Amino acid sequence: MNSNTKSRVKLVQRPRRNRKNDSVRRLVRETLLTPSDLILPLFVVEGTDKQIPIQSMPGVFRLSPDLLLEQARSAYTLGIPAVALFPVLPESAKDRFATESTNSDGLLQRTVRGLKSQIPELTVITDVAMDPYSSDGHDGVFKDGQILNDPTLDILAAMAVSQAEAGADIVAPSDMMDGRVRSIRDGLDQSGFEGVGILAYSAKYASAFYGPFRDALDSAPKSGDKKTYQMDPANAREAVREVLLDIEEGADIVMVKPALPYLDVISAVRSAVQVPVAAYSVSGEYAMAKAAAQLGWLDEDAVVGEMLIAIKRAGADMILTYFALDIAQSL
Ligand code: PBG
Repeated sequence: MNSNTKSRVKLVQRPRRNRKNDSVRRLVRETLLTPSDLILPLFVVEGTDKQIPIQSMPGVFRLSPDLLLEQARSAYTLGIPAVALFPVLPESAKDRFATESTNSDGLLQRTVRGLKSQIPELTVITDVAMDPYSSDGHDGVFKDGQILNDPTLDILAAMAVSQAEAGADIVAPSDMMDGRVRSIRDGLDQSGFEGVGILAYSAKYASAFYGPFRDALDSAPKSGDKKTYQMDPANAREAVREVLLDIEEGADIVMVKPALPYLDVISAVRSAVQVPVAAYSVSGEYAMAKAAAQLGWLDEDAVVGEMLIAIKRAGADMILTYFALDIAQSL
């Protein structure tokens, strides 16, 4: 036998036929990423014409409301339907009960009003949690080393109502207190905001991947950690329990966070629920890709595209990512 005939094996199944050129690869592609899948997180700081870099998040800035408006406009023009806002407050504005969070003339409320008056079609999502406003840096009321669940619920509901009054389309509780979705839903409904949605950070893990975000907000816990309320990274079934509870309590969209190290959780949640599923590709995921790219070790655009398609393939309908503008531009 010559080597020619030897290589003529009878293969009926040749998956490579569906990969033989770009057009056939496009035909058989199972997952598509579009700008409509993306939500851009933005950090807002007091002032005008201010753009303050965040050391551990190169390319991301704390923006004053005027510059934030410009960035939101670029995002919307590129086809990104929504932004998620996080306020950066000075220590002097923080206290134990996050009092500033319900100030109708507060930084966040003013920013929301500005956005909704200038770009009414843009969906504005606000974060409901005490940490940006808390002198303890925790997401709930801190007392004698404990995070008090039930006393936090009224604060969160009041915060959500204040954000809705400012014009938020969707409020997004990221605190992981038990029962907060119900408490926020009741609060909103009692104030006439039945139309304001709830995007619940349902399966939010106690993750070291939030490090750069806490730098951005100066919001790291002053004592202890968040393990008594955020989830144990070892658990997946518990994530399904958390999302089912949040849906029962009135969540319109549920979220898994972080995203890339938790693709199995996104997938499990996707098959367990009928509501839309969001995933938050967090600050540490951004920092990892950015740092390796800056060192010349990874091709940033290619790696980011692959990260985001993986998150979508796992089952996310929408992705919060600090790469949203770059990706939307490249699509
Ligand atoms: C806090 C909050 C955090 C993030 C979003 N909301 C940090 C935390 O729980 O300590 C992290 C987002 C990111 O890392 O990109 N309520």
